[in-house]
Amino acid sequence: MAEAEAAAAALRAGQLIHLPTETVYGLGARADDAEAVIKVFDAKGRPRFNPLIVHIADLALAERIGVFDRRAKALAAAFWPGPLTLVVPVRDEALVSDLARAGLDSVALRMPSHPLARAVLSQVDFGVVAPSANRSGRPSPTTQPDAFEETGNFVAASPDGGACTVGVESTVVSLLGKARYLRAGAVTRDQIAAVIGSLADDEAEGHRSPGRLSLHYAPDAPVKINVEKPSDGAVYLSFGPSDYAGTVIPLSPTANLHEAAANLFSALRRADRLKPPLIAIAPIPVTGIGEAINDRIRRAAGYIG
Ligand code: TXA
Ligand code: MG
Repeated sequence: MAEAEAAAAALRAGQLIHLPTETVYGLGARADDAEAVIKVFDAKGRPRFNPLIVHIADLALAERIGVFDRRAKALAAAFWPGPLTLVVPVRDEALVSDLARAGLDSVALRMPSHPLARAVLSQVDFGVVAPSANRSGRPSPTTQPDAFEETGNFVAASPDGGACTVGVESTVVSLLGKARYLRAGAVTRDQIAAVIGSLADDEAEGHRSPGRLSLHYAPDAPVKINVEKPSDGAVYLSFGPSDYAGTVIPLSPTANLHEAAANLFSALRRADRLKPPLIAIAPIPVTGIGEAINDRIRRAAGYIG
C-alpha cells in the first residue's frame, strides 16, 4: 500500500498524518518525539492536560511501552485488534513523550483493526499518538473528507480508509488498581466484565478520564436530545421510523444501534451544515453501544460539562 508507506515515512520524519481507524479518523504523530506530539496539541487546539492514546500494531511493542498484568493480557487477547484502549502503568517513559502522557505515569494503548491503520503502524517501530482528527470540542471525523476539513492543513499525509465502521471512539478501560470503565465505546461494560470480572463505578467515585470534563463533539447549532416530536425548523436525527415533516437525517431507519453509531458524527456534521436553529436527536436506548452514543450526544448537547 503506497499510501501507508507515505504515511509511515511522514511519521518517521516527525510530521502529522491522518490515521484512518475503525472508530474515527485520528491525527497521528510519533509518540516518542515531543516536538511531533506538540504539533498534535497545537493542530487540535487541545488542552495539554488531556493525554493521548498510543496506537501500536503488535503486542510486543505494547508490552515494551506499558506494563501488562493478567487483566491487560486477557483484555488484549479478547478485543485486540479492535476498539478498546487500555490504560496501564508506563514501563519505558522514553517511548512515549511526557506530553503525550500529560505527565502521568500511566499510558493509554490501543491496537486498531482497520487494515490501513495496521499497514501504517506495522511499518514503524514506535507507537503513534492519535486523538480524533477534529479540532478540539468538535464532532470526530469518520470519513477522510471530514478529517481533511478539520485538520487537513496540518498533515503531510491523509490516506483515505473509507467510512469508519464503528463510528464512535474506542472504549477506554483503566487497569490502574481496580478496573474502571472510563469511556463508553463499542466494547461494552458487560463485555469487559465478562473477561475480567467486576468493574468499579468510575462516575460514582469521581474517577473520570482526564479528557472527559469539557464540552465535546459539539456542532455549532444547539443540540437537544431525547426528542420524540421535533419542533418546526429543527433538523431531526431520527432512530427508527419518523413522520416529522421537516428535515430528517436518519441515524438508523431500522433502529439498529451499530448503524446509528456508525452514522452519528457524519449526521451531526450534515445537520450542522444546514445551519438550523436546533438539531434534535431521537431517544436512543442505553443498551450495548447505545451507552457510547448517549455519552457522545449528551456531551454534544452540553449536558456533561
Ligand atoms: O477511537 C479512538 O480511541 C480514537 C482513534 C483515533 O483511535 N482516538 C481517540 O483519542 O479518541 P483521544 O486522544 O481523543 O482520546 C483519549 C482518551 C481521552 O479520554 C483521555 O483522557 C484518555 O483517553 N486517556 C489517555 N491517556 C490516559 C491515561 N493515562 N489515563 C486515563 N485516561 C487517559
Ligand atoms: Mg476526540
